[in-house]
Amino acid sequence: MKKNIQLFRVVLFLFAMAPSLVYGKSKVANLRCEYLSNPIGIDAPAPRLSWQIIPDKENVMQTAFEIRAAKTPKDLLKNDRLVWHSGKTESDQSVNVRYAGPELKSMERVYWQVRIWDNHNRVSDWSEPAYWEMGILDPQLWQASYIGMNPEINKGETRPAQYYRKEFSISKEVQTARLYVSSLGLYQAYINGQKVSDRLFTPGWTSYRTRLQYQVYDVTSMLASNNAIGAILGDGWYRGSIGWGQNNYYGDRLALILQLRIDYADGSSDWIVTDQSWKASAGPILTSEIYHGETYDARLEMPGWNRPGFDDGKWQDVELISHSKDILIASMSVPVRAVQELKPVRLIKTPKGETVFDMGQNMVGWARLKVTGNKGDRVTLKFAEVLDKNGNFYTENLRAARVTDHYFLKGGGEEIYEPHFTFHGFRFVKIEGIQNPGLDQITGIVIHSDMEPTGTFVCSDSLINQLQSNIQWGQRGNFLDVPTDCPQRDERLGWTGDAQVFAPTAAFNYNVAPFFTKWMKDLAADQLDNGKVPHVIPDVLRGDGGSAAWADAAAIIPWTIYTLYGDVDILRNQYPSMKAWVDYVKGRAGEDYLWTNDPHFGDWLAYSTANSDYPGATTEKDLIATAYYYYSTSLVSTTAGIIGYAEDEKAYADLAENIKTAFNNEFVTPNGRLVSHTQTAYALALSFGLLSGEQIEKAARYLADDVRKFGHLTTGFVGAPLLCKTLSDHGYEREAFMLLTNKRYPSWLYPVTQGATTIWERWDGQKPDGSFQDKGMNSFNHYAYGAIGEWLYRYVAGIRVDPAAPGFKHFFLDPHPGGDLEHAGAKLQTMYGVIESSWRIAGDSFAYDIAIPANTTATVILPFAEKERLTVNGKPIQKALNEKARQEETGVKLELGSGKYSLRYPLPHW
Ligand code: BGC
Repeated sequence: MKKNIQLFRVVLFLFAMAPSLVYGKSKVANLRCEYLSNPIGIDAPAPRLSWQIIPDKENVMQTAFEIRAAKTPKDLLKNDRLVWHSGKTESDQSVNVRYAGPELKSMERVYWQVRIWDNHNRVSDWSEPAYWEMGILDPQLWQASYIGMNPEINKGETRPAQYYRKEFSISKEVQTARLYVSSLGLYQAYINGQKVSDRLFTPGWTSYRTRLQYQVYDVTSMLASNNAIGAILGDGWYRGSIGWGQNNYYGDRLALILQLRIDYADGSSDWIVTDQSWKASAGPILTSEIYHGETYDARLEMPGWNRPGFDDGKWQDVELISHSKDILIASMSVPVRAVQELKPVRLIKTPKGETVFDMGQNMVGWARLKVTGNKGDRVTLKFAEVLDKNGNFYTENLRAARVTDHYFLKGGGEEIYEPHFTFHGFRFVKIEGIQNPGLDQITGIVIHSDMEPTGTFVCSDSLINQLQSNIQWGQRGNFLDVPTDCPQRDERLGWTGDAQVFAPTAAFNYNVAPFFTKWMKDLAADQLDNGKVPHVIPDVLRGDGGSAAWADAAAIIPWTIYTLYGDVDILRNQYPSMKAWVDYVKGRAGEDYLWTNDPHFGDWLAYSTANSDYPGATTEKDLIATAYYYYSTSLVSTTAGIIGYAEDEKAYADLAENIKTAFNNEFVTPNGRLVSHTQTAYALALSFGLLSGEQIEKAARYLADDVRKFGHLTTGFVGAPLLCKTLSDHGYEREAFMLLTNKRYPSWLYPVTQGATTIWERWDGQKPDGSFQDKGMNSFNHYAYGAIGEWLYRYVAGIRVDPAAPGFKHFFLDPHPGGDLEHAGAKLQTMYGVIESSWRIAGDSFAYDIAIPANTTATVILPFAEKERLTVNGKPIQKALNEKARQEETGVKLELGSGKYSLRYPLPHW
């Protein structure tokens, strides 16, 4: 009997252990190549591979990985058919692991899968296979020519969009077909009547003279025996109006370059390429301009133009256009797409009698029109962000941008129209040409770079939640292939300063690594030979640049992307540009290490009293410039260290030290008072590390005193992003929260109380009486002040990156409860998985729920906690994780591995 019981116990034990012995293992999923899921047409010579580990238990770390790669999914299973096999590689790296197989060839597709070992001595199953496909690596492989229309069509004020077509037939079984397309101007491509992709604004906006993107489409399923291939070209950024009153900035002729590669089942292949056999014509798009909108005459439609069998006898022959093919590069950023649809919330008759749809949200994209009427009837749509104080449609702040779509009906039934090569920033749509429209006649099509949403922030204050929503809408609207200042007026340019201050917030909201990787390459491409960085990227201001805080985007954005994604390549690739920028400033600053007397934008749009030079800087520009000179120089030094340039590391560290000394001699009293006694000056000096010793505490006190004295912020584009973090870093939480929750001008919440649904360019874009600030510069969708978002995620919710283990490999969960907030929390999808950090105060107890992804670790900082009274997942900490917890003066510090933890403890009585 005893024996039996023992046996029974053994069986029971084995049974209990079975899941971990047999089934217990983590999964590997979400495979990505260069941040993209199954990309086709990339040109990274050795692409980087990433995966996520889906753990089945707590505290999972990868100890080794194995990757295998082959030409087909089946070949993955045969060792002798692999093109690359990493073997079991001892490593905890699961993000951006470099492909190390044989050199990749143009158009080659590689399937890959991965399995991992973990710290519990278990091996996962192989992941599902993923793939990537190379683009055209050798310009010689561009068999296609650039083709264009006879220039006659471009005469006069209006320049119609251009239609191109060609027919071809296929007699063999098709295995795969790939379309490679680019253009001077924007294109939309079609095969047999269908658009080849949902990508918009292709080929994207780059420094067109040296970098022109092409896209690759899998069109295998679109081909038949008889085929027609076609494309429409519009002016876009290439030759449309851009900057202020400039046309043809990059060139005055549109051109298409396209090649279709068809691989047949019998192993042979064919190319269909743009050449002189193509035909071209104008069509129904009479004009299409990014700033001005589109005029479309449906009576001129050419039904079937992009299908086989169309009579193109009246179409023109095309001309070959001579243009470099060496500049063609793959598209590795995220595509622009129509991401969302909005229904109008109401129809308004304004006091002036205008008929206006209210979309309920300031958005970017266009309006889809549904209309029935007679042939030749015209419907006009105009777009505005705001109504004026009388409730009338207001467009003065759009300056020269006409922002108008005209549609001429063809008649004979319901017609649906969407423009092709324009976008508008708007909340209100004025309609003319329809007597009594219905709400369903307009749909808002929201368009932006289709980045992976990664962050959410929610708290107990609905105004702050609306602020967060405004920040995210501001990002959507202004991340349309390049990061723009605003999306509506005659500007919409890649202003470097705006992007620089907003980048960390952007990286919490969405995965912006591929987006900024592309844009930074354009920055390097447009940087002047002497290292000066243009104000806007792509540069359409003819090299104008070199302003502190703006041009420093060259050094700061690569660093931001590195810290938030752990991406060393962006540092390596941008290093020459970072260094060239600092060397340029070094030349300007000269022997005394002070960067003085150059023109700068300063603390742009800072709060200022009536008797100073508003808009402008009340913080001395030389101080701002020298502070940034120091910061960028330190980043160059640190970067040099990371990528292995020891000499540069030292040289730039020495330079930084000299700048710091010079800064202190020139701008700081021994007591830590700055010559510009402003919030911006203190925020800069403290957060860039320009002060030392006792000065730090004193300067922080000056800053906090100033905030209390004014009772509000006084900062502009340069100071505002740093203000709350600097206060928090130095223990002035109360002041930071006071600024956040202030509802009166100037503050983050004032626009929210005025009904803003995006971030305004100015603290007082619209006054409480409904009147407007300067009509010449008053955007209602400008993300720069949205840079407060980083503080919400990083401090209020508490998700803080550790630059020593970038990309959230190790991070801090360090919540800063404050103000009247009862709860706040954020979730962040990192390259490893989701981090969660949510706290709630109920009575005198603090509840903190966190999630730490597999293959990462976190240091958790629990404010005011006492170890004896702390529970984790319902158990006293001493029983659960005692050895991982440390009592400190300000609370408890925990070192945790992956998992979900509910932490609870009583708060002290104050
Ligand atoms: C833009 C800003 C930009 C600034 C330079 C403005 O016209 O809209 O956002 O940074 O110029 O100061």
